[in-house]
Amino acid sequence: MENLNWSALPFGYIKTDYNVRCYYRNGQWGELEVSSSEILNIHMAATCLHYGQESFEGLKAFKGKDGKIRVFRMDENAKRLQSSCGGIKMAELPVDRFEEAVRKVIRLNERFVPPYESGSALYIRPLVLGLGAQVGVKPADEYLFLIFVTPVGPYFKTGFKPSKVCIMRAYDRAAPHGTGTYKVGGNYAASLVAGEKAKEHGYAAVLYLDPKEKKYVDECGPANFFGIRGKTYITPASTSILPSITNKSLIQLAETIGLTVERRPVPYEELATLDEAAECGTAAVIAPISQIDDLDENKSFVYSKDGQVGPICNQLYTKLRAIQYGDEPDPFGWVTIID
Ligand code: PLP
Ligand code: COI
Repeated sequence: MENLNWSALPFGYIKTDYNVRCYYRNGQWGELEVSSSEILNIHMAATCLHYGQESFEGLKAFKGKDGKIRVFRMDENAKRLQSSCGGIKMAELPVDRFEEAVRKVIRLNERFVPPYESGSALYIRPLVLGLGAQVGVKPADEYLFLIFVTPVGPYFKTGFKPSKVCIMRAYDRAAPHGTGTYKVGGNYAASLVAGEKAKEHGYAAVLYLDPKEKKYVDECGPANFFGIRGKTYITPASTSILPSITNKSLIQLAETIGLTVERRPVPYEELATLDEAAECGTAAVIAPISQIDDLDENKSFVYSKDGQVGPICNQLYTKLRAIQYGDEPDPFGWVTIID
């Protein structure tokens, strides 16, 4: 791929060679199919188009110094996809079929895995769609599981430089006991108005408060939230946030570097007491937060004034990336080598 500028890739779609598909019909999943088409031909009454029967995942593969390709915690993504599908009454794909499809789609598009030096990665986007035609509000009887890949750079333009986020109480991305814990398209549609408004005002993302009382910190539009106070890693527990695999991994890394971990409801007032704050997710990795502006109360919480990344965020980021790229041993069994 001579003509791709690997170290300056955006987080966007770049056409690759193949995608992998699998259909659920007559109560069972079929064989994996390989396609070179970017187009889907689906029924106009498919439930994904009308009633939001759609779920997706996001994971990454990394090329190491040793030339090997490593994929990060794909079993976790497989399980979360099952949970999301169950949450909106779609057929659940077995974990081993998911993993087989991930391996296959990476091998087929190997030439798009960015080289080690670039710091970029291959983003893997699995999705499940309700394909069966329905007009009444009920689950489809046919589904499509599909995976495509695209080489990506950082999700936020600032990369690992701290950026600002904002609080706006007029918007929720999910209901208190709604679909926030599932990775379903509707949550992201629900976040677009607030997300675009935040961007217009120069913010990287919205930091949502809990939708019931607006008393606790929930998460950002596309990533979980964590804060550091002294030697403590603090991250929200909530019924309206996505269980982030990156956050789960950082929790383990935090413990190994001697931090205490607190996963619990995080009152809004606590934002004033944090030393460091960040977003975390597959796309975002760790995106440090320089400042949280509460646009309703005209208040700011500042964590970084000079573009410097806090020491704990720095340490966690370095450790996570080292495991993902294979620079350091993987004591947790998180990476799978694709051969
Ligand atoms: N929260 C939301 C709403 C997300 O979309 C994502 C991205 O997947 C995350 C959190 C982070 O999850 P993960 O670390 O599994 O990518
Ligand atoms: C991810 O981190 O993989 C995401 O899915 C976040 C965003 C691109 C929706």
